[in-house]
Amino acid sequence: MNATVKIGKVSLELPLITAPMAGYTDRVYRFLAKEAGAALTYTEMISAQGLIFSNQATWALLDLAGEPGPVAVQLFGREPEVLAEATRLAVAAGAALVDLNMGCPTPKIVKNGEGAALMRDIPRAAAIVAAMVKAAGPVPVTVKMRKGWDEHSANVVEVARAVVDAGAAAVAVHGRTRNQFYSGQADWDCIRQVKEAVPVAVIGNGDIKSAADAAAMLERTGCDAVMVGRASIGNPWLLRAIRAQMTGRPPEPEPDVKTRIAMALRHQQLLIELKGETTAVKQMRKHLVYYLRGLRGAARLRQKLYTLTTGAEVVSCLHNYLQEIEAGKQNYDGV
Ligand SMILES: Cc1cc2nc3c(=O)[nH]c(=O)nc-3n(C[C@H](O)[C@H](O)[C@H](O)COP(=O)(O)O)c2cc1C
Repeated sequence: MNATVKIGKVSLELPLITAPMAGYTDRVYRFLAKEAGAALTYTEMISAQGLIFSNQATWALLDLAGEPGPVAVQLFGREPEVLAEATRLAVAAGAALVDLNMGCPTPKIVKNGEGAALMRDIPRAAAIVAAMVKAAGPVPVTVKMRKGWDEHSANVVEVARAVVDAGAAAVAVHGRTRNQFYSGQADWDCIRQVKEAVPVAVIGNGDIKSAADAAAMLERTGCDAVMVGRASIGNPWLLRAIRAQMTGRPPEPEPDVKTRIAMALRHQQLLIELKGETTAVKQMRKHLVYYLRGLRGAARLRQKLYTLTTGAEVVSCLHNYLQEIEAGKQNYDGV
């Protein structure tokens, strides 16, 4: 299977997309995800208000200059005119798609009527999308949503219809309610129901952890593309595995410890070049948790890594670890 996905005027070579994840899906994550096979990546969610108020940290999230392949810029907010203005800024920055966040469950966001709270105010959601579509010109506008606010009010089909009527060129559906946050299992049935209800591309999201999961999501829901989130952090090999399966190539071997550490160090180096050493080493800690997950002595190694402040210290700590592992030492002592 090697299907092209159409989202408005944008064509994706493979139905493989990575999810927006605040704190993770920066330029470096996106670069490595593209390299591993993602046909489309998303920015972290970006405050529409922050862009308009010229908040420097917010603007840094919108820096797409020179990135390979298409990037979707995800915006959050609640005022149609603010989101319209932010859409213009995202388009000017090079967004291939502009996405509206209707899934963020965080109290800080929903108490402002943003993120998943918009699923409880369909007229507002539709007005926002209509304003964004008008502002985006030829660039497609998409919406990422959840199953609903809670199990009793699960209204994703109704919301999807409303935003598509307002001009959305695709919808991404995470099969959990707002009240579930990230717990329990994602409900893929609601993704199928949305696919049956709207004439645009539907992107299925939630709990894809293997190439087999990706294939099952496509088959069981009929969705046009899969979106992979948490399982891709510190694990570009998952995207490679899904790409191999989608293009009919044999699966690649699981990465060994050396390969994982080499990739983690490459990630760190790219992050240092992007954000400077102090910020990069700090931010790298949370990625390292995933790169090292399941390795022998990973908990101790992590503790040690959390005390380090320079890139060179991290490199030497990981090289020492590797040497000990390769020497077959049973008790890694973290130095
Ligand atoms: C740390 C973290 C940050 C996230 N940030 C965003 C975000 O900025 N925008 C968004 O729409 N979803 C965000 N999500 C939700 C993911 O995009 C995705 O919908 C969810 O993790 C389910 O997919 P998964 O099971 O493949 O992880 C975030 C999830 C996590 C774990």
